[in-house]
Amino acid sequence: QNPSASFKDRGMASALSYIHYLVQQGLVSDVLAICASTGDTSAAAALYAAYLQPDIKSAVLLPHKKVTPQQLSQPLGSGAKVFEIPGVFDDCMKVVEILSEKYNVALLNSKNAWRILGQESYSYEIAQDFEYDLNNKVVVVPIGNAGNITAVMSGFLKFFETGIINALPKILGVQSVHANPVYKYYLEPDTENRKFIPITVKPSVAQAAMIGNPVSMPRVIHLVDIYNQVAGKQSVFFVEVTEQAIMDWELLANRNGHIACTQGGESLAGLVEAKKKGIVTGDDCAVIDSTAHVLKFANFQQMYFEKKFPAEFKINPDSKHINSSVLIHPKNVKKVPSFGKPLTGDDFNRFVNSVSEEIASILDLKESLKKNDRDQIFKGDKK
Ligand SMILES: Cc1ncc(COP(=O)(O)O)c(C=O)c1O
Repeated sequence: QNPSASFKDRGMASALSYIHYLVQQGLVSDVLAICASTGDTSAAAALYAAYLQPDIKSAVLLPHKKVTPQQLSQPLGSGAKVFEIPGVFDDCMKVVEILSEKYNVALLNSKNAWRILGQESYSYEIAQDFEYDLNNKVVVVPIGNAGNITAVMSGFLKFFETGIINALPKILGVQSVHANPVYKYYLEPDTENRKFIPITVKPSVAQAAMIGNPVSMPRVIHLVDIYNQVAGKQSVFFVEVTEQAIMDWELLANRNGHIACTQGGESLAGLVEAKKKGIVTGDDCAVIDSTAHVLKFANFQQMYFEKKFPAEFKINPDSKHINSSVLIHPKNVKKVPSFGKPLTGDDFNRFVNSVSEEIASILDLKESLKKNDRDQIFKGDKK
């Protein structure tokens, strides 16, 4: 599952299967699939297009220096034509929209309905995991271009309307204070007075969701109304979280055995915020969407641990979350191994013993029992 390490694979599997079907039926040929991306859409698009060579080729547009090195390496490795554009994702999106209007290309952003259909599977899988009982459940998703929350609402609505699930879970959409147009729209309680205003984004560690003018906003507005109506009460909520909270909660999640990316940290920070606001209670059980892999966003963890965040992120690393490696300089040994120059004999033994002692001293390790003492204990056990 998710071979390119983000939730985008669910939608791409569906969109590219459909294009492949059209190719096989002879209805289209020589397809160029194209998308704008904050990194993960392009990784998934390029990967699935690469499966379908030579019928389907791919090109991706990325905001220059606004995707991580790992994300940039993905479409390059999959053989897509990669274009880096000045500006942010919203600028790339506009260019790709013009390309898809003027030229014969297949648009793979979440405007593409087949993408949304594929991503609905996330809701189906959650329903299955809870054996179709979705009472007191909350599903938390980070919002960027708003395709994910569209698909999640749509998936649950379909399952509810067909009677497969017994209740609609609460949906909690989370945005960073640096990229919060959807949150701002819903701040206005009076539906008549709501007005969507795209915003200019500021740097965010939840970089994959750093989008000021989400393409799926009209669908979100439509679906939120339907979802709340069908649920019979407000069931879709939006919160915003600080950059500091995103990083702190991401790191805490990972210290507890998760592999959360920064967008996952955003989701968890959003859940905490929602609990403070009384949107969720202790009786609710939350499913938190960590939308990609921590390794794709390792640079943010590194900036935190090395206290090197540029000021505009407004992040003060908290020492209790920081971890760093210890470089051992073995004491009392003249020779250490180096590349192409291994140690042997006494030099090697001295080196290994010295390093072991130093690590044991840092970790305050207690010496293990000597073999004779161990044997005595085991003999005692047998009696
Ligand atoms: C890792 C990750 N998380 C969250 C998002 C936001 O999802 P959406 O754009 O569907 O709102 C994206 C993509 O935009 C993403 O790549």
